[in-house]
Amino acid sequence: MPDEARHDLERLARIQRRFSEFGSEYATLPLYATICRHLTEDQDLASLLLAARPGQARPVLWLAALHDLVLRLPETPAAKWYPSVAGAGRTPSGDPWPDVRRTVLDHRDELVEKISTHGTQTNEVNRAVYLTLGLAAASRDVPGRPLALVELGASAGLLLAVDRYAVRLDSPDALSAPPVVLGEPGSTVRCAGQDRSGVASPGRAEALELPPVLGRAGVDLDPVDLADDDAVRWLEACLWPEVPGRVERFRAARDLLRDQQPTVLRADMVDGLSRAVEVARSQAGEGAHVVVFSSWALTYLERSRRTDLEAEVCALARDCALLSWLTAEPPSCAPGIEPPADVDEGGTVVGLRRWRDGHERAPVTLGTCHPHGAWVDLRFRGLDGQTS
Ligand SMILES: C[S@@+](CC[C@H](N)C(=O)[O-])C[C@H]1O[C@@H](n2cnc3c(N)ncnc32)[C@H](O)[C@@H]1O
Repeated sequence: MPDEARHDLERLARIQRRFSEFGSEYATLPLYATICRHLTEDQDLASLLLAARPGQARPVLWLAALHDLVLRLPETPAAKWYPSVAGAGRTPSGDPWPDVRRTVLDHRDELVEKISTHGTQTNEVNRAVYLTLGLAAASRDVPGRPLALVELGASAGLLLAVDRYAVRLDSPDALSAPPVVLGEPGSTVRCAGQDRSGVASPGRAEALELPPVLGRAGVDLDPVDLADDDAVRWLEACLWPEVPGRVERFRAARDLLRDQQPTVLRADMVDGLSRAVEVARSQAGEGAHVVVFSSWALTYLERSRRTDLEAEVCALARDCALLSWLTAEPPSCAPGIEPPADVDEGGTVVGLRRWRDGHERAPVTLGTCHPHGAWVDLRFRGLDGQTS
C-alpha cells in the first residue's frame, strides 16, 4: 500500500475514534450522539473529515458542516431531525441515520468543500451571564463610571452588547428565592444561569446593575460580519442544535444587532488591543472605565503570547486612569489569575485585574462558571475589603 494511502487510513482510524468518544461523552444529545456512533462504523462518511485543514479534523467540524447544509437547505431529508430547522419539540422520534446518510451522500462535494475551507468558531451569547457579573465586580469601586468595553477574540461581537440582554440568575433553591433579572429585562435576548453562590440574591441585585456602556470594540483574527449571511449561518451551524435555547438566543442577538453591530477589528488580539481600546475610548470619552475582557479566547494563544498580552495590558494602564482586565478562561490561561484549587480542566475561571491611576490592585479570582454560563459560582470577596 502506498505511504499516502496508509497515512490516510491511520488518520481515518483516529477520526473514527474521536467520533466514538464524542458519541459517548455527549450521549444525552440524541441526534449528535447517534450520528457520531454511526460514523464510528461508517468509514466512507467519516472520511469526509480527511479534507479538514491541519489540526481541524474534529467531529464538531463534520457536524457543523452538515448543520450548515440543513440550515441552508431545509428541504433535505436530514433537516427534519434538527430542532434548529424543525423547531424545538417538533423533531420526529426514531433513527435519523438513514436520512442523514442520504443527505450527506447527495451533498458530499459541498460538505467536503466546507470542511476543507472552514474551522469551527462560536459566539456564545449565554456567556453574558458571567460577563454581567464580572463587569459588576469590575465596576464595584468605581460605580456609575461609564464603561468602554474591549473584547479579545470577539467573534461577531455579540458579547459586546451584554448590557442589552436580559440576564436571569436562578437560585439553586428556586422555592426559597425568586430569580433576579439583570440587564434589560424586556430584551428579546434571554440569557439564564444558576447562581450557585447567591451573589445575585434579591437584596444584592441593585449593586449588580451595570454603569452605562458608552464604548465597545472587539478584536478577532476572523471577525464575523452580521451582514454576511453565509458567515453568520456558519457561526450558527457551529452551535449544537439540541442544546435548548442556544440557537434561539444566538438568532435573537443577531437580529438585535444586525444594524448596530459593535466594531470588531480584524487582528491578532495582542497586536490589535491598543487600536481597539482607542476605538472604544473614542466612543465613550477619555474618562471612561476601560474593561478589556475575554471569554474562551486566551486559551487559543501560545503561552509566550499570553505574556506579551499581559505586557500590552500593563502598558495601557499608563494611559487609562481606570483600567480593568476581566477573564473567563480555562485554568491557568489568564496571566496573574490563580485558579481555585478545586477547578477541573474543562472549568472556566473568572478573574479580575484592576489598575487605578496607574497602580495595580491585588488580582482577584472571582470564582468559576460553566463555559456557556449555565451556572456561576462567583464571590465578590477581595474587592476593596468586601466580603460577600
Ligand atoms: C471560542 S471563540 C469565543 C468567542 C467569544 N469570545 C465568545 O465567548 O462567544 C474564540 C474566538 O477567538 C478568536 N481568536 C483565536 N485566536 C485569536 C487571536 N490570536 N487573536 C484574536 N482572536 C483570536 C477566534 O477567531 C474566535 O472567534
